[in-house]
Amino acid sequence: MIGAPTTGAPGAAYGVGMRVLVTGGAGFIGSHTVIQLIAAGHDVLIVDNFANSKPTVINRLEAITSKHLPVHEFDLRDTERTERLFAHEQIDAVIHFAGHKAVGQSSQEPLDYYQNNLGSTFSLVRAMTLHGVAKLVFSSSATVYGANAAVPMNEDFPTSATNPYGWTKVMIEQILRDVAVAQPEMRIALMRYFNPVGAHPSGDLGEDPSGEPNNLLPYICQVAVGRLEKLRIFGDDYDTPDGTPLRDYIHVEDLAAGHIAALVRLDSTDRAVSTWNLGTGKGTSVFEMLHAFERAVGRTLPYEVVGRRAGDIAASYADPGRANTELGWSATHSIDDMCTDSWRWQSRHPNGYPDA
Ligand code: NAD
Ligand code: UD1
Repeated sequence: MIGAPTTGAPGAAYGVGMRVLVTGGAGFIGSHTVIQLIAAGHDVLIVDNFANSKPTVINRLEAITSKHLPVHEFDLRDTERTERLFAHEQIDAVIHFAGHKAVGQSSQEPLDYYQNNLGSTFSLVRAMTLHGVAKLVFSSSATVYGANAAVPMNEDFPTSATNPYGWTKVMIEQILRDVAVAQPEMRIALMRYFNPVGAHPSGDLGEDPSGEPNNLLPYICQVAVGRLEKLRIFGDDYDTPDGTPLRDYIHVEDLAAGHIAALVRLDSTDRAVSTWNLGTGKGTSVFEMLHAFERAVGRTLPYEVVGRRAGDIAASYADPGRANTELGWSATHSIDDMCTDSWRWQSRHPNGYPDA
């Protein structure tokens, strides 16, 4: 059993003024969340090994927040380092973003994916347990709804996966539920993200995939900026209004806000484990997304319709009702906002973050 949760600064019990460890805080979603945590009055420390991010992100975060951010650069699978961090730092809550996330790569390197995503979680949760840190917000994914779910998807749907990445999310969710049975003091949030896109309104923080992007918006961004020749649309023969698949794109700023709301809520819930979808509830097609991006850029963009991508489903969008009601949270940014902000970031930084 874990000890009594540490409360940290006065007010911590009410969800303000907490000292929050953000794992993967230099990554796309983590970096945007760090800014909102600080704006909400929390103190932040970051663990990241920069496996999929650049240290320059931290400089940007410090410039935007005008705060010094303690960053611990190590691999979370290092159980000793992780344990030492908890022994030396006051930590009231953890948001666990760190993990590998490329679906295709996960099929080619399944052991790496299982090892990294599960291993980092084991190490983290053990250290939390040892040091009486009870609040954990975990980055799950809508991918846990599997290939055949109806839409809109709600949190009570059964979970499954179609690739090793997805299975790591299904497995970690189950592991955390088991931990919560053994340690009912835990307050765990499983946040199921739909399709995070967009960028910080400053234009100085955004998504910077390494190699050719797999996801739609980063791909369109790179076509718009001239790094890629044209968008390939993976099939226009789906059973959807314009034949292209529907997805629930959500602005990373809305997603970040959902984490702040979840942290607050963990203080007042009796449930050891809560599961919340973070999505808008609306499906947007590939053509609709392309045209929205063209509006943001002010010109048409080249594309070609090609065959379907293996593993794609026709429609995926959230029922966000539970998060709306229980967290008092809802997504506020439109598709046009997402494209405008993504384009501001990409056009200011055509090659993403500099190395140093
Ligand atoms: P990201 O790759 O930009 O950020 C992840 C960060 O974790 C990176 O900075 C990386 O260097 C770090 N990291 C990875 N393994 C680590 C380890 N063992 N030790 C320390 N640091 C490590 O990804 P993101 O888009 O910000 O996603 C964050 C989380 O949200 C991930 O868990 C991802 O699976 C999940 N998620 C992302 C999406 C999406 O489309 N972006 C969708 C659903 C869920
Ligand atoms: C992908 C992952 C999913 C993950 C999600 C969010 C796969 C098979 N699925 O799904 O597990 O949870 O990202 O990170 O990789 N598209 C194109 N051309 C492109 C890129 C995408 O037409 O170059 C289309 C796709 O066919 C899809 C839509 O755009 O219909 C969105 O694609 P993507 O951004 O990869 O997201 P998901 O398909 O939801």
